[in-house]
Formats: sequence, structure tokens, C-alpha cells
Amino acid sequence: MPVVIVVGVQWGDEGKGKIVDYLTERANLVVRFQGGNNAGHTLVVEGQKTALQLIPSGILRSNTRCLLASGVVVNPTALLEEIQRLADINVAVTPERFGISGEVQLILPYHVAIDKAREAARADSKIGTTGRGIGPAYEDAVSRSGIRLSDLFNRDNLKELVRVNVAAKNAYLQSVLGSDEAFSADEIFAYLCDIGETLKPFVSNVSVEVNEAVKRDAIVMFEGAQGCLLDINHGTYPYVTSSNTVAGYACVSAGMGPKQVDYVVGICKAYCTRVGGGPFPTEDHGDEGSLLRDRGGEYGTVTGRPRRCGWFDAVAVRRAVRLNGIDSIILTKMDVLSGFDHVKVGTSYDLDGEAIEDIPPSSLNTGRIKANYTEFPGWSEDITGVRTFEELPKTAQDFIKSVEELVGCRVGGFSIGPDREQTIILDENVKQFAVR
Ligand code: IMP
Repeated sequence: MPVVIVVGVQWGDEGKGKIVDYLTERANLVVRFQGGNNAGHTLVVEGQKTALQLIPSGILRSNTRCLLASGVVVNPTALLEEIQRLADINVAVTPERFGISGEVQLILPYHVAIDKAREAARADSKIGTTGRGIGPAYEDAVSRSGIRLSDLFNRDNLKELVRVNVAAKNAYLQSVLGSDEAFSADEIFAYLCDIGETLKPFVSNVSVEVNEAVKRDAIVMFEGAQGCLLDINHGTYPYVTSSNTVAGYACVSAGMGPKQVDYVVGICKAYCTRVGGGPFPTEDHGDEGSLLRDRGGEYGTVTGRPRRCGWFDAVAVRRAVRLNGIDSIILTKMDVLSGFDHVKVGTSYDLDGEAIEDIPPSSLNTGRIKANYTEFPGWSEDITGVRTFEELPKTAQDFIKSVEELVGCRVGGFSIGPDREQTIILDENVKQFAVR
């Protein structure tokens, strides 16, 4: 079972970083396949907190090589800062341990400015982006005007690319967005020349590396960022991120055929959160939502924003199981539910009084979805020290079994705290990645 894809099945922040870190004990390669420094993965190893945004969580394992595949958007400054942060805690990010596809698109200062100016201009319909320039960088990729890492190594061509881009972005910022920001092509060119020198040793042919690793039966793990409901095609559009977050995109981004994938693991919170705008059918605006936020520490890793909180949405997770072909779900933050008299689960939706089976494509409809709930008895015990399924209180066991039935997928593990050791894997196929 050497090729596994790990994805988030809700609106991100499901705890993927922690689970990927846990599962990478035997992984040879960990590959990030989409998004950029809008992601924030908090890992706690032996009590020490590390926040990663771009570099895959496998970097904390000394035998694992980490890669950024072509579908990732890279802010070079953010990447270098992250490498420095890791160096500060004695994790050396060397070219032996970390590679970047020459095909990644770069996020440049004008992308960040456009992202922020656009959000400021959207009065009541803010997407609530992370302000990291993600959308504008993906737009340049699709419009074939973006600057890729490999472009930094042909300076004549780069100079012209920068000139054309900076002129277009300055005009757009000023005339369309009414911004007074203006960028200098010379400064950006000089910045990119420097960055090119620093990043050149890290450039890798990711497709070759991945395919060769698969041929040798190495363990290759793909690490998704954000979550299924933020997918540009399948999420709650337009309140989504600008990349495909579903498992299928791992193959596209890495340059690998779909037949190579052996297993898909979905990471899912035992309740549900969302940051930014957009529909959230099981959101709880009352005391219980606040309690989930406080107990779960639900504040953004990247932006510090309080996350919107609510209950497990079985309809949405069932959809994610289908969209990603998930074999096994890991239910995170089970400990946060301790102390609730009852635990609610959204089990069906109504739209204007009519039962609907799935999230409709139009945001005009999604905003009017009403979730219907089933209530399960809660548990009061502290479960952070539990190490087997059987040690869980009976009501927590029943909750997990009900989730399996409702979403049509086995729960292959659960997590009951932030530490590596507070992860209990039940699925033998998943366990083989984390033999300990
Ligand atoms: P963007 O990816 O910065 O363009 O933001 C688009 C939407 O995705 C916003 O609602 C963000 O809050 C959300 N988003 C982006 N990255 C993450 C993440 O890592 N976790 C949760 N939400 C995210």
C-alpha cells in the first residue's frame, strides 16, 4: 500500500498536519500538491509546537524527503522564513530533504496586494481570503502569464516577464481596484534574481522523483491542504479557495497516473469549523458553538481569526467520501466533545422545506440550506489519555459507529489531543505507515 493521499474533508483545519506527521514515520516521500501559505499546520512533538505553512509535515522526520509539486503556489519570502523557523528549532531544510518542482507558480507582492484590495472592495460578499495572494497567483497560472520557479534561471526572459506583469498589475490595482500601490519592475526583478540563487539547489523534477519512488515500492504520501468543501470545482463556490483540494488533484499536480494511488485517507473533525465567509449548514451561533471554539482552540493558525464552529455535518462528509474516494476517515479532536450532554450531527438537509440529498451547486441555494440534526448522548469523561477504541466511553464508541454508518466510510482512527501520541489508528492499512 505504498501510495496514500491524505485530504481534509470539511472546510480545512481538520488536523491534517498532525495526522500526516504521525503517519510519516516510514514514509520515504511526503508531497504537498496544492495551495500555498494560506495553509497552516500546527504540530506538537514532545510538547513543542511547530507551525508549518508550505513545507510538508514530514520534514520533522529525519528520513523523509519532502516535495512541493507543480500545483502548489509558492511565496518565496514565506518559504525562506519557514526554512529559517525550522532551522531555529534544529530542523535543517537542506536540498537532500526538500525539493520543489520548477513548475510551481510564484506568489509575488502584487498578488498579495490584489488579494487584499479585492477583499476590501467586496462590501457584503467578502470571501474572507487569507490575504496571501493565493487566488491572484492561480489566476496568472491559468491565464498563462504567471512566473514559475524555473523562470528564475533565464534572466533575459525573466526580466521581460516581470516587466509585462508589473505593468499589468499596477494598472489593474490602480484603475480597477482604486489602490494607490505600485510596484517597481526593477525591484521585483532583483528580488527574483536573489531568490533564484537561493532556491536553485532545491529544484527537483517531482514527477520523475515520485514515479521512480512508486516503482521501487517506496512509501509516498500526498498531503492535502484546506479541505474538500473549499475545492474550486466541488466546494461551496464562490466561497472556496482557488485550487482543487480533492484527492484526484494529487496525481495532476505530481505528474503521476491515477492508477498508482493505493489508498485515500480523509481527515475530519468530530465537529465542524469554517473560516471566512460562505454557507455552513451546521453552524451553531449559540453557546455551544462558542464552547466548541474555546475548548477546541478554534483560532486560525495563519490569520488568528476566530473560526466559525458547529456540529458534524454527515451530509457534507458523505459527499467528501464520494468526491475523494476515501477509504478511511480519521476523526480528530474527539476530546473537544467531552462534557457535552448531547452531541449533534447534521444528518439531512432541507432547502426551502424540501429534502435535498447533497450540497447544491449554487451559492444562492447553499445559503438557505437548513440542517436537520440527530442527537447522540455525550460523554463527560476526559478521554485525552485513552489509547484504544475500547477505552473510550460507550457513548463515544457509539458516536464513532454512527458516523461510520452515516457517511458510508469506516472510521480508521481517531485523535484525542494535539500530541503525536494522542492518535489511535484502527485501520491496519493506515497503521502500516506508522509502525511504532
Ligand atoms: P484563500 O485560499 O486565501 O484564497 O481563501 C479562500 C477561502 O479559503 C477563505 O474562506 C479562507 O478562509 C479559506 N482557507 C484558505 N486556506 C485555509 C486553510 O488552510 N484552512 C481553512 N480555511 C482556509
